[in-house]
Amino acid sequence: MQVFYDRDSFSRYIDSQKENSKTIGFAPTMGALHAGHISLYELARKENDIVVSSIFVNPTQFNNPQDLEKYPRTVENDIEKLKNSNFVDAVYIPGTEDMYPDGMNRKHYDFGGIENEMEGAARPGHFDGVGTVVEELFRQVKPDNAYFGEKDFQQLKIIERLVEVLNLNIKIHGVKIHREESGLAMSSRNMRLSREEKKASAMIYKTLRTVDDWFRVISIPEIKKRVEDIFRRDDMELEYFLIADEDTLKETDIFSADKNYRAFIVVNVGDVRLIDNMHLK
Ligand code: PAF
Repeated sequence: MQVFYDRDSFSRYIDSQKENSKTIGFAPTMGALHAGHISLYELARKENDIVVSSIFVNPTQFNNPQDLEKYPRTVENDIEKLKNSNFVDAVYIPGTEDMYPDGMNRKHYDFGGIENEMEGAARPGHFDGVGTVVEELFRQVKPDNAYFGEKDFQQLKIIERLVEVLNLNIKIHGVKIHREESGLAMSSRNMRLSREEKKASAMIYKTLRTVDDWFRVISIPEIKKRVEDIFRRDDMELEYFLIADEDTLKETDIFSADKNYRAFIVVNVGDVRLIDNMHLK
């Protein structure tokens, strides 16, 4: 596996792959890699000649400076994990100047409104920051296929819109959420949880499964009320729970038979913000 720390040497690598007509599969990350990330590369390996990863903690998608500061940085470990996986041909670890040569500014995107729902409302500017860095990465990596986890389902939808808006010829693949044995969705942030907090956080997935049982049996407002009751506890704080149309990501109180719905939840455990979601049957 080759490791590139600057834009010029990485661009030469990509250009030589393109000259040899190799297809490129790409999964961008902010590091602190876990089995969920590795599942993206496993899939990319099956569908492409070359698999590329990137590690870059993107400042413009953090609206809270403390969250950015506390984001785990484990680059040496990450490189080892990528090497050991045997799925990845090259990892790009750019510096800030490689990603933001004209200064650390967010672009502004119109994604048709989905950027204002849920995480967009809770974290102003977040999706402009994600769009800015992913657009730049796509321009440098020039992938044929790109892979994103469904844990960040809204982000996945945003990236699908991004390639449409920019008219990029990149196929976006959503990959199923990878979970710990307890059901907790794998996330780089989990490494900041204590043992007790981690154990308690299994509650999030358990609740989503219960919601799936309740869905279409009891009303959505009643489901919301019950979820709020479940999280009336001292060791975690429910930031939001809602059920939304999978296409528009708009919250709904009623369901219709011909649409797909998904439950979305954000829970703060100590100062760790955990997000999860589930397609409802
Ligand atoms: O999902 C992430 O890790 C990040 O939002 C991404 C897509 C790498 C952009 O910084």
